[in-house]
Amino acid sequence: MNITVIGLGYVGMVAAACLAAAGHRILGVDIDSERITQLRSGAMPFYEPGLHELVVSALYEERLRFKHPDSVTEPLGEITLIATGTPQTANGAADLSQVRSALNWIRSQDHDDTLVVMKSTVPPGTGQRVIEQEMRHAERVAAGLRYVSNPEFLREGQAVRDWQQPDRIVIGANPGDSRSVALVKAMHAGIEAPYIVTDITSAEMIKYASNAFLATRISFINEIASLCERVGASIDAVSDGMAMDPRTGGRIYAGVGYGGSCFPKDVRALDNVALTSGANVELLRSVININNRQRLLPVYALRERFGGGMEGLRVGVLGLAFKPNTDDVREAPSLDMINTLCDDGAIVSAYDPEAIDTARPHLPSSVRLVDNLLEAANQAQAVVLVTEWPEFVDANWQDIARCMNPPRFVFDGRNALDGAKMQRLGFQYVGVGRNGNGPGTAQAV
Ligand SMILES: NC(=O)c1ccc[n+]([C@@H]2O[C@H](COP(=O)([O-])OP(=O)(O)OC[C@H]3O[C@@H](n4cnc5c(N)ncnc54)[C@H](O)[C@@H]3O)[C@@H](O)[C@H]2O)c1
Repeated sequence: MNITVIGLGYVGMVAAACLAAAGHRILGVDIDSERITQLRSGAMPFYEPGLHELVVSALYEERLRFKHPDSVTEPLGEITLIATGTPQTANGAADLSQVRSALNWIRSQDHDDTLVVMKSTVPPGTGQRVIEQEMRHAERVAAGLRYVSNPEFLREGQAVRDWQQPDRIVIGANPGDSRSVALVKAMHAGIEAPYIVTDITSAEMIKYASNAFLATRISFINEIASLCERVGASIDAVSDGMAMDPRTGGRIYAGVGYGGSCFPKDVRALDNVALTSGANVELLRSVININNRQRLLPVYALRERFGGGMEGLRVGVLGLAFKPNTDDVREAPSLDMINTLCDDGAIVSAYDPEAIDTARPHLPSSVRLVDNLLEAANQAQAVVLVTEWPEFVDANWQDIARCMNPPRFVFDGRNALDGAKMQRLGFQYVGVGRNGNGPGTAQAV
């Protein structure tokens, strides 16, 4: 199948590379000329495990080409995927300008009966509006341009695996449009996953509701962690105990909150949809507020420990990416936290295995970005673990203790370390909802 992918970010690149690996012929299109040049040479614009290898091999086998939209002369393929960004506007709504410009570009091309597949996360109702407003063009209707929603659920850091082994494939199509549904299924040939076929708006809502529900669970466990601190319970035991009930949806971890390019903006966009549609959805506002507070937990803990005397305090920050195995720092908790620490007068050194370059533009120039863990911790009175990279969790913390200065305060923002062991090593250890103690897990007997 010939497929055009518009927008070569995390989603578009993973789609393009995985579809090429599955045997399709892919034309990847992006308005970022630098990115196109980079990709043609086989270099990756961002870090995603396993993606580089797929791209290099697809380029070699000539199943993957990259072009700027202005230089595309060939007709679009049987399918055109839209994977452009949908960042948030100032009022929290989804900014659909990239999606609109992609649709306009499709309209300007020789689209030859292409099926438009919306991979970008767009608010419920968008697809229907696109069909009614953007595509009500005599010449396009004549050419039979069709539209389906096919939301993407991949997780950065394991995106290739998520594409190749998804939990489900959601297809939102107009009632009776079995031809489009069949084409999307053919695009996924070889992938074992249940299909959920719905109308377009429900497919869009599945994506938002899934993200909002996960965000809600995270904010919920963070609220319980804060209650655990008050009453002297251990969040590890509580989470383990809850996870044994299948109705609660599995283990969820307390920490410094969710970040990344999806959860924060998608929850705000859904909240905005609720507001503008007149629905009374108070829960989402709480989820957002809890998460905003959660990101600054390490700052509150440091202020409490050092009596507000943060001026000149040396703090080492471990992890900048919003989660391990990515260099993405969009909405990363580390950024809010470091900026606040710097405002308080702390001297911050930070290290991340992949995200130094992506984080640099978002941090004050006073922050020392170093190239290894020990340098970040060197002479620091406090260390904050923000991203649970294995390199940090499995580090030799005895070496870290040796290079730090007293009181060797460690804030474990992901509850990823063994608190009791840290205390034995001489650290003043604080986790999230752990009452300063070690894991204390619940055990079934
Ligand atoms: N990143 C994720 O983990 C993830 C997961 C699921 C869904 N999504 C959704 O998928 C969409 C894409 O996300 P992303 O993280 O890949 O975005 P991104 O910002 O990383 O990439 C978007 C790309 O689109 C390009 N672009 C913008 N306008 C264009 C146009 N008119 N024509 C061609 N290219 C254009 C940009 O140059 C950029 O390279 C978003 O709606 C997002 O919410 C993202």
